[in-house]
Amino acid sequence: MPKNILVSVAWPYASGSRHLGHIGGAYLPADIFARYNRMIGNNVIMVSGSDVHGTPITVRADDEGVEPIEIVNRYHAEFLSYWEKLNIQWDNYTTTMTDNHKEVTQEMFLKIKENGYIEKNKSIQAFDPKENKFLPDRYVEGECPKCNYLEARGDQCDSCGITLDPEELINPKSKINGNPAEFKETEHYFLKLSALNDKLADWLNTKKGWRPHVINFSKSFVDEGLQDRAITRDLDWGIEIPDNELGDGKKIYVWFEAVIGYLSASKEWAVNNGTPEAWKDFWLDENAESYYFVGKDNVPFHAIIWPAMLLAYGDLNLPTNVPANQYILIKGEKASASRGVGKTLNDYLDEWNPDSLRYSLASILPEQNDSEISEDEMIRRNNEELVAAWGNLVQRVFSQYINNFDDLDTTFEYEKIDVDLIEGAKNCFKTTGEMIEKVELKSSLQNVMAYVNSINAYLNETEPWKVIKEDKKRASGILHCAITSIDACATMFTPFMPTTSKIVSDAIQKEDQNSWGINEIKKGAPLKNIGHLFKKFD
Ligand code: MF3
Ligand code: ZN
Repeated sequence: MPKNILVSVAWPYASGSRHLGHIGGAYLPADIFARYNRMIGNNVIMVSGSDVHGTPITVRADDEGVEPIEIVNRYHAEFLSYWEKLNIQWDNYTTTMTDNHKEVTQEMFLKIKENGYIEKNKSIQAFDPKENKFLPDRYVEGECPKCNYLEARGDQCDSCGITLDPEELINPKSKINGNPAEFKETEHYFLKLSALNDKLADWLNTKKGWRPHVINFSKSFVDEGLQDRAITRDLDWGIEIPDNELGDGKKIYVWFEAVIGYLSASKEWAVNNGTPEAWKDFWLDENAESYYFVGKDNVPFHAIIWPAMLLAYGDLNLPTNVPANQYILIKGEKASASRGVGKTLNDYLDEWNPDSLRYSLASILPEQNDSEISEDEMIRRNNEELVAAWGNLVQRVFSQYINNFDDLDTTFEYEKIDVDLIEGAKNCFKTTGEMIEKVELKSSLQNVMAYVNSINAYLNETEPWKVIKEDKKRASGILHCAITSIDACATMFTPFMPTTSKIVSDAIQKEDQNSWGINEIKKGAPLKNIGHLFKKFD
């Protein structure tokens, strides 16, 4: 029975270029997972979009002296080019600027309010007396009350990961002029997280197979007792509050509306697809599954706040899993990029074959721990693993087959060593699939690579290039077996390296075509010469 699977991916702020760490942290793993699930016949939608609101955008616009929309348009266009160059296959990549998103957000706001989980409340907010305005989120910086990191932002501490409200900071300063922030009373809407605490704890307790760092963080967050949080802000740039009870100059908080994007983007996909009700397959079907691919700084919003909003709203599915990644630290990148000599993501996208880049990043995914990678390490992975093990294997077997094509004898029979290699492929399909389903993507890629190495070992053992001279029949059997196993690898590599895997697969003629399983290769059929798949870097 095919499953309905929603693949939700963090909405990048359209406030600046992304780096390789973002790609490896969320977009690539989501794409691998979605591609695999499509291959095995599941019904998949992968959705996200550019997050256009909030103070990251307005701070940038203020810095450049332009309107927020100019920033948003610039980076949204840039993000679209990333997806294109990297072959990230969205079912819907949209923005939070659409009318649809605004309607879905306002409807959700009103229903949660009607259900009693949104309330007006007076609060004390940071205020800049010089500028005579309230200072939301990233307009305030100060010391984290939990870990004492000195540069915590008004919305979150980058050091320990907790979410914050500006008034919780110690020694808060205005980002506009560096002066101490004052505090004044103002009225906002609050999400009553305190009233959802027990339901959330119960829900988290039902979760099995989550990454330890995600479940531990989330449970301890809830165990400490959730505070009600303001979900409106003193900003002009944002989605309007659907009632006018707070007066002008206030908008819905970006973190309240951006997560709603998963739902609004699913609805938008359904309409674009000509099946306006189809979003329900992913949000109302109780057997549907949903996976949220995010970086670790986004865990509280996806494992606690969004589930709380869904509980408060009622009826909609909560996340099946939030397979958040830790950070990929690109060694030296930050320092050098700020000096203007480092590489941007666009540089990598221009210099690297997309599949080589996908491979290097996937092979170090920070699923459990922060991982460091340098360009040298990426080059080593490309040269020593991808080119040397996989690229050369394909090249070697293809050229032997093509060069000896006229001598092939298809009356061969498999020997035990051949049968074992084929069995190995069948087993590899099974174990790789199981790992991908558990979102252990780095291991699943290693698993396929280990099988590639076993094909190389098989060839060193059977030596078809020698055997062809005295026993054409046997050599034909070996090559047929090697091509069958290479074809299997091409299938298994498809979620990771879609372009080159398709080239290999399309070059091989088959009796059948299984989407996730071994194919029977046509005996004696010509192979297309595909040349070198990857290039070696110096
Ligand atoms: N824009 C946020 C960031 O870049 C992520 C938002 S994810 C969403 O950290 F679900 F809230 F949209
Ligand atoms: Zn902290």
